[in-house]
Amino acid sequence: MSQSLNIVILAAGQGKRMYSRLPKVLHPLAGRPLLVHVLEAARALQPAKLIVVYGHGGERVREAIVAPDAVWVKQEPQLGTGDALAQALPHLDGAGTTLVLYGDVPLIAPDTLTAMLDAGRGITVLTVKLDDPAGYGRIVRDARGNIMRIVEDKDATVKQRRINEINTGMMTLPTARLAKWLGRLSNNNAQREYYLTDVIGLALADKVKVASASPHDAWEILGVNNKQQLAQLERIYQWQYATRLLGQGVMLADPMRFDVRGELKCGADVTIDVNCIFAGHVQLADGAAIGANCVLKDVEIGPNARIEPFTLIDDAVIGAGCRIGPYARIRPGSRLAEEVHIGNFVEVKASEIAARSKANHLSYVGDSSVGRDVNIGAGTITCNYDGANKHRTVIEDEVHIGSDVQLVAPVRVGRGATIAAGATIVRDAPAGELTLTRKEQITLPGWKRPKKERKE
Ligand code: UD1
Ligand code: CA
Repeated sequence: MSQSLNIVILAAGQGKRMYSRLPKVLHPLAGRPLLVHVLEAARALQPAKLIVVYGHGGERVREAIVAPDAVWVKQEPQLGTGDALAQALPHLDGAGTTLVLYGDVPLIAPDTLTAMLDAGRGITVLTVKLDDPAGYGRIVRDARGNIMRIVEDKDATVKQRRINEINTGMMTLPTARLAKWLGRLSNNNAQREYYLTDVIGLALADKVKVASASPHDAWEILGVNNKQQLAQLERIYQWQYATRLLGQGVMLADPMRFDVRGELKCGADVTIDVNCIFAGHVQLADGAAIGANCVLKDVEIGPNARIEPFTLIDDAVIGAGCRIGPYARIRPGSRLAEEVHIGNFVEVKASEIAARSKANHLSYVGDSSVGRDVNIGAGTITCNYDGANKHRTVIEDEVHIGSDVQLVAPVRVGRGATIAAGATIVRDAPAGELTLTRKEQITLPGWKRPKKERKE
């Protein structure tokens, strides 16, 4: 946006009430740290400078978050929001506006921030009216409705505590004035802190306009101080995501039982049953149907593919018209072409499977290349691991593998071959032939099953 917009994210606070060793701003919301959500909202405004004030949790916060575009400034000790912003002063672009965000208020939306920036060149405070304003700084206005000051809950009179318009903490300020104002803050208050909110009085004395703006949605300003609030924000996030997808025509069986932890892109006529988790980048093409209780991470699902309940897919590509599951597990590096069927209790890892091939029951297909129109019988295992190294199995087109076969890799089954049930294949099996490793079937005439001995 502007050459002179600074965004400062205050994230030095401790978060005692999380009762966790993980620094507060690293707790995940929708699978990503709280601070990452705030960084994303900030980046949407294309600031000239993006500054994170950190402190509690120290280097752990800095190391956990990849933000090469941000300047990290340490605040130690933490003497209040005014002191926190003062730490960022040396890094601010002198002219223009500074926008202050909180690292623990993750749902703030870029268009609300844009509205704040559009509100004027003075100070703009993001405020809301709450039924229960307890704990927040209150917005004190004069008879004509002009903001006079912000008074913290702990410093407020009984009368001021009845004000229900509160300070969300997010505000825009004219950068050029900040050094002077922040330098004049005192900590002569109930918490012995340097309050950023006290710049209001200094601004008014300098005849700088103080205005307010309100968020588009009330939940945008909610902060995380404890795990109840974190769980509440998680649901709000998921509900928003789900209703957006419903609005695009995706059929979610129940938007309350839906979780995205990353990004989910859907084509037309996609249906998603309850309790699915979508992590990383997931793409569902037109007509894809996802059954209940599936976990999909970094997955591409082709048109009209059906993923049956309780299926786990991680880092894989599933072709058009495939049927996967129920109870299937597709592991990283797997690429399934169109109309492949993978059934219950089948595990596929680092394998390509060509069109129309099937492994419908109780199998392990790992480090394999499977051709088209192959049938892999129940209980077949590719023995890819010799205890030290992994080896590949190649199954060419139109192979038929009977039940309970072990393919000891490295091994190749030639095109159109048939492998008889129960075989242990340790050498390449020739194309077009039946290969079996069975001993002849024998019967012991008159053999008796052992009986339980009766104890006296
Ligand atoms: C602050 C506001 C209050 C507002 C409330 C909204 C002040 C004086 N008060 O109060 O008016 O209603 O937020 O939630 O600004 N932080 C630092 N360094 C510090 C202190 C805080 O980085 O020394 C960060 C925290 O990590 C947090 C944010 O600033 O992200 C707000 O801190 P918090 O302690 O929650 O402020 P409140 O006292 O609740
Ligand atoms: Ca707070």
